[in-house]
Amino acid sequence: MQEESPVKVIDGRKLSDLLLEEMTQEVQERMQEGYPQPGLAVVLVGEDPASTIYVRNKIRCAEKAGLFSLVKRLDASCSQQTLDDVVVELNEREDIHGILVQLPLPKHLSEERIINLIDPTKDVDGFHPVNVGLLSSGQAKLVPCTPLGCMEMLKREMGDLTGKHAVVIGRSNIVGKPMANLLLQANCTVSIVHSKTIDAAALCRQADILVAAVGVAELVDKSWVKPGAVVIDVGINATEVDGKRKLVGDVNFADVADKCRAITPVPGGVGPMTIACLIKNTLTAAKQHDI
Ligand code: GUN
Repeated sequence: MQEESPVKVIDGRKLSDLLLEEMTQEVQERMQEGYPQPGLAVVLVGEDPASTIYVRNKIRCAEKAGLFSLVKRLDASCSQQTLDDVVVELNEREDIHGILVQLPLPKHLSEERIINLIDPTKDVDGFHPVNVGLLSSGQAKLVPCTPLGCMEMLKREMGDLTGKHAVVIGRSNIVGKPMANLLLQANCTVSIVHSKTIDAAALCRQADILVAAVGVAELVDKSWVKPGAVVIDVGINATEVDGKRKLVGDVNFADVADKCRAITPVPGGVGPMTIACLIKNTLTAAKQHDI
């Protein structure tokens, strides 16, 4: 008989499929009740290869879940005014409930300006200062998709997170900060470590929950991990192994796997959950219009 591995690899693809099935059903039921079809608009500026793939996957998922969706493609050299006009028009459209402007933008365009311009009730990224404020004051409406997906995986894996020590590596507005806020609201004791932290590994070794969102390939090895920890790897880093392109996370999976209780793989972990949560946020945004 084969010995069972004590390490659980959290299957983000399977879980996201499950969530998408539930949401597809909900969309159908809402439409049968006479509510309008939820609509998602994605704005893509330029032709960055990674962004183009992300946008294609987002739209594919939205369509699979039965949402109305559209992509507004703008030239990489477009003016700030052109981009602003597109967002203002989408803010006004009644058939669009969610707006996402794919980041990063070309350097001559202001991400801050465009995030602030999106109607907060349609901000399915949860990046608008109104949504950031609502999250940090415990009144969350639209929460950034990646941290939301991470929380879903953690809750399904661990149940109640009360009293757990969670350490988040990275302090970005997109992942690190909202992740820390969500963990705090789930009654964790939360630490954030970043590039200026003294002995980040020592802090991480205290973590029951370790979330790596720093964008450094395989930074976290087993010397950073407490035995039995649950490790969530948000990183997606393109590397080359034996001349072949390979995606790796911020965690050295092979090194860490036999030390932790559960771990998310890259790819197939956090990535698919982020997209499922975008659909969830679009539904949440559409429901705000019911009232
Ligand atoms: N680029 C990388 N991640 C994201 C995200 O979550 N939202 C947007 N809008 N752009 C991104």
